[in-house]
Amino acid sequence: MWEDLEVALEKIETGKMKKKPSSDDLGFGVHFTDHMFLMKWDKASGWHDARICPYQDFVMNPASMVFHYGQAIFEGMKAYRGKDGQLYLFRPQDNFERMNRSAIRMCMPRIQAEKMVKVLKALVYLDKEWVPAAEGTTLYIRPTMIAVEPALGVRPAAEYYFFIIMSPVGSYYVEGCAPTKIFVSDEYVRAVKGGVGEVKTTGNYAASLYMSEIAKKAGCTQVLWLDACEHKYIEEVGTSNIFFMLDDTLVTPPLEGSILGGITKASVIQLAGSWGVDIVERKISIDEVLEANDNGILQEVFGSGTAAVISPVGELFYKEKTHVINGGQTGKLSARLYTELQAIQNGSQDDRFKWVQRVG
Ligand code: PLP
Ligand code: COI
Repeated sequence: MWEDLEVALEKIETGKMKKKPSSDDLGFGVHFTDHMFLMKWDKASGWHDARICPYQDFVMNPASMVFHYGQAIFEGMKAYRGKDGQLYLFRPQDNFERMNRSAIRMCMPRIQAEKMVKVLKALVYLDKEWVPAAEGTTLYIRPTMIAVEPALGVRPAAEYYFFIIMSPVGSYYVEGCAPTKIFVSDEYVRAVKGGVGEVKTTGNYAASLYMSEIAKKAGCTQVLWLDACEHKYIEEVGTSNIFFMLDDTLVTPPLEGSILGGITKASVIQLAGSWGVDIVERKISIDEVLEANDNGILQEVFGSGTAAVISPVGELFYKEKTHVINGGQTGKLSARLYTELQAIQNGSQDDRFKWVQRVG
């Protein structure tokens, strides 16, 4: 069926093209490109009606199941403009494969990852003028799947939309790549083993908002979540995975069912490993981290993610107390990872891991 899926192309009329924002005014996810991809699924036809078309609103039935029971999944990836002017995607197939794992968990139809990489390349190429060139700017890509069947029974929907929208973005955090202040949540939790924390479904993010607002009031940009049973072991940040450089070993929590398996996390492990850094995926408690900080053996802490890139943590706020990490400075490893990962992503460094795909 996938071999037969034809993708129609409806280009926007030249006169209707939007004005592109200047690269110092991008924000994150507020401007959208001229085109999008859309396809529909139902039980009888599978995926059909696939098209790259002008960016447009949907007319939705208020009974659409996504509004009521939250059957929705998404991905986050980026297109990068290299210094050579070429456009690159970073491990795009991995994102679509992760989306399929999310689809299985949420009882939604799967997509064909290889085909979607091809479609994405065509879409990015069509909107290539939208990929910003300034340092630290990229084109953020948001593949999304939602349940659109109008019905109120609690069961998997029989109709879905899959779409890809794209947005030129600056840095996700207001701090840019400067160290962030992070609130360690000892009251609310993000996910529990056996739940849906390890997939990218919208409800995980809705559930995080209440705690994020508390964190914001305390002057923090993000929340560091602890495990749901003991409120003791570190899981991840709201939009990124987390790493601790502790006594010359890089420690990161294992993927045991409640954490999103980040593509950046996997890349950091591979990249730092290739430099000879000792890396351990193991449980690590907030008490161990703060004790190591007090004893001067916590060298640096950073988050990793598509939106966040490598985001050094300058302060952890836990139980009403601020703990300054590495003098509030970006650590050596964080800086090296930030620079080298971006250099691979924008094609200016040899892609020895075969992570990058050129567009066009
Ligand atoms: N954890 C969560 C909850 C996220 O939303 C993200 C971002 O997608 C990540 C981790 C990092 O994943 P990736 O590196 O694939 O972007
Ligand atoms: C990403 O890193 O792509 C994310 O999905 C994080 C966030 C913007 C939800």
